[in-house]
Amino acid sequence: MKEILTDAATRAICYLENLETRSVAPSGAAVAGLNVFDAPLPEAACSPAETLRLLDEAGSPATMAMAGSRFFGFVIGGSLPAALAANWLAGAWDQNSALYRATPGTAFIEQIALRWLLDVLRLPPDCGGAFVTGATVANFCALAAARHAVLKNTGWQVEADGLFGAPPITVIVGAEAHPSVIKSLGLLGLGRNRVVKIPVDAQGRMRADALPPISGPTIVCTQAGNVNTGAFDPIAEICRHAHAAGAWVHVDGAFGLWAAAAPTRAYLVEGVAFADSWATDAHKWLNVPYDCGLAFIRDAQALPAAMAITSEYLPTASEFRNPADFTPELSRRARGVEVWAALHSLGRAGLADLIERNCAHARRFAEKLSAAGGEILNEVVLNQVLVAFGDAEKTKRTIDALQADGTCWAGITVWQGRTAMRISISSWATTTTDVDRSIAAIVRAAAAA
Ligand SMILES: Cc1ncc(COP(=O)(O)O)c(C=O)c1O
Repeated sequence: MKEILTDAATRAICYLENLETRSVAPSGAAVAGLNVFDAPLPEAACSPAETLRLLDEAGSPATMAMAGSRFFGFVIGGSLPAALAANWLAGAWDQNSALYRATPGTAFIEQIALRWLLDVLRLPPDCGGAFVTGATVANFCALAAARHAVLKNTGWQVEADGLFGAPPITVIVGAEAHPSVIKSLGLLGLGRNRVVKIPVDAQGRMRADALPPISGPTIVCTQAGNVNTGAFDPIAEICRHAHAAGAWVHVDGAFGLWAAAAPTRAYLVEGVAFADSWATDAHKWLNVPYDCGLAFIRDAQALPAAMAITSEYLPTASEFRNPADFTPELSRRARGVEVWAALHSLGRAGLADLIERNCAHARRFAEKLSAAGGEILNEVVLNQVLVAFGDAEKTKRTIDALQADGTCWAGITVWQGRTAMRISISSWATTTTDVDRSIAAIVRAAAAA
């Protein structure tokens, strides 16, 4: 073990050090080189060192440099040093962190991480929580708890009796809800299409004045941080309207919820804590390795009511929290370890600094690209910048040229009819120098497009 793990660590360190100088996107030759993996299953065993060598030599160059400081696609955080190291250590522990009595160490660390998360995200301290694979599954878990609660209020046990014959649930979403919310509704039998869609404003915020009168079992899905603009729905106002009629309010805050940790951005989450459930990601703005999403539920019993199982062979009785009582999975990796390590190593001040820095970088991108002739399409309130360079075709050519150049990587979107480059800054590693190098590359790409 020692030799192969030392070899892996050496190779991983070398990979991370090279990110500074290599192209952010993998070269065509590196991607073509993946063909070496397209071989028959070996009949005989191979040495671990040889297996690792092949993986590193052919696999590493074909990766996108998402762990580096100039990847601005989607919403992608890097891995903080302590979080990556904790991930390696927890990998060595190899705990199936489902039940406290079987894995007390990782279950307990997860419980502490949950308490710290609720603190930094300014959510009610008694919430229940689930550590899952990402915000998609976190949305699914939170909406499963919502489905349980709104039907329980009518006397219907959805986990036992299913949805056939159940009182219908009205689901209200903003027209700009993330597709993962819509997918979760489909998975829960609530339907992707049978939602009531509320119009949004120019930033993608749900218009609270357009909410219909609410009655009967109802779930309202709101958003803290639109994936294109970073804008927040007026959640306090929506909560007032929905709660007056006994509805459940869910917040998809995959990255936006982290604004709570940054003093100058905290105004964005005002009223978010009035909701009933929240979904977010740790692999986005907390910068832990993939995969790690988080669901929080005000009524701590609603999530286990939807998720927990018992069996004679499973040691479920425990005075401490069983992680798997809150998640769709039974067997699961110990995600709480990296979350704990990230929060422990950053501290409250370090986390605030990470969020503030990324938001300042977003403003710098917007100011300098605007000065260079780009058109900024959103109000840059968080870490998302939408910029157009003339018409759709020219913007597309600019994005293609930028991705081929390799200095940085940003993707494409269409925002309310306008084709734009999406710049999303979420990595602890991004510096002002990275931002300026990237701005220069974007300006070059736009000039050549
Ligand atoms: C607002 C929002 N919700 C949900 C998701 C889905 O998150 P994940 O890919 O971690 O499942 C994203 C991803 O970017 C997002 O921005």
